[in-house]
Amino acid sequence: MKILVIGSGGREHAIAWKLLQSPNVDVVVCAPGNGGTATLENCENVAIAVDDFEGIAKICTDQTIDFVVVGPEVPLAMGLADFLAEKSIPVFGPKKEGAIIEASKAWAKALMDEAGVPTAASGTFTDPQAAKDYIQAQGAPIVVKADSLAAGKGVIVAETTDEAIAAVDKLWEQGYDTLVVEEFLIGQEVSVLALCDGKSIRPLLPSQDHKQIGEGDTGENTGGMGVYAPTPLAPPDVMAKVQVDVLEATLKTLQARGIDYRGILYAGLMISPDGVIKVLEFNCRFGDPETQAVLPLLETPLDKVLLACVNQTLAELPPLTWYDGSAVCVVAASAGYPGAYEKGKVITGLEAAESLKATIFHAGTKLEGEKLVTNGGRVLGVTCLGKTFDEAITNVYQAIPNVNFEGIYYRSDIGHRLKKA
Ligand code: AMP
Ligand code: GLY
Repeated sequence: MKILVIGSGGREHAIAWKLLQSPNVDVVVCAPGNGGTATLENCENVAIAVDDFEGIAKICTDQTIDFVVVGPEVPLAMGLADFLAEKSIPVFGPKKEGAIIEASKAWAKALMDEAGVPTAASGTFTDPQAAKDYIQAQGAPIVVKADSLAAGKGVIVAETTDEAIAAVDKLWEQGYDTLVVEEFLIGQEVSVLALCDGKSIRPLLPSQDHKQIGEGDTGENTGGMGVYAPTPLAPPDVMAKVQVDVLEATLKTLQARGIDYRGILYAGLMISPDGVIKVLEFNCRFGDPETQAVLPLLETPLDKVLLACVNQTLAELPPLTWYDGSAVCVVAASAGYPGAYEKGKVITGLEAAESLKATIFHAGTKLEGEKLVTNGGRVLGVTCLGKTFDEAITNVYQAIPNVNFEGIYYRSDIGHRLKKA
């Protein structure tokens, strides 16, 4: 089988790597891929952008692609799955009508209300003064969100009402014309990536991402600085509740609206100290870096799992099998990220880290001749497995110091919340 993977991050490297472990998969083509997918055996990069729909369709025909896996949210929200489906090209990833669950927070909030899915109390505003009045009435802390894809930059967790009001002005000036203002939730964040074929839905192992740049969860939000899976914060009884109250309730409402959702439904959850589950957000795709910890644990061939979603046979798929242990992924970033950073720094030490049984997923890298250089904010994700969580943590922090590039930064405390729990 020949599969096309759309995207260029660590998530897409992990998807391509896992697909190639399946005996059914001969070749993976990545559009556009990165320095990591360029060096994977039986993997080929094509220089086609994720929003070049015609180019993607042409590759599918020219290379006789069996099915397409879409990594990022932007092409899904733009309708890539619709475009490919119209050409009868099988695709993993929801159509535009489903991807809006990530692209519009106001839409997702309304869906959750209709479905009875537990989530933070909120208001949606198209008038900045009304948003400010709501903030004054509610008090702080409070959360202000732009109603669109903003690559993690459209959410402001405000400690004071002044800060929240300033956030309204800032987002309004940036051109966001719909804002969601939401109750601040306390607890631990858990990411549940669920497979959905439009008829049934089932979760992968739950994981915990670390969104902030600084040690101890401080500083600016990023795309994610590290993750471990599975997280004991979502044991089987919690996952059973998530299945019924979040995943099935959401699917039922999507179905009632006539939306045929085939792909990943990613539920970002907050679990309060007394065990109350609330949805912070939905995404329409695999998480990054969650995928780089969750997929290395998966033993069932990934092509079978994804095809079951595409072909609406998820209910018939036997239970997924998993490595009996933990995975930790630590992200190495460029100095300055999530702000401005330089590119083109030579990366060394990957083989030394790999000799310590680390799997290295490339995010912002590219090959310049023979040299591998940095090409983004999040550069690499270093993943290690362990029979236990502690063993996986020990392994990853033995491996990652071998990796180097000028300005390398990574958090040394991934998993710290679990240690405290
Ligand atoms: P979102 O894109 O909606 O997931 O928000 C990005 C991040 O902001 C989340 O991962 C949380 O860390 C934080 N956040 C969002 N909404 C809330 C909330 N209601 N209460 C507390 N933190 C939040
Ligand atoms: N790691 C967070 C996300 O993928 O949205």
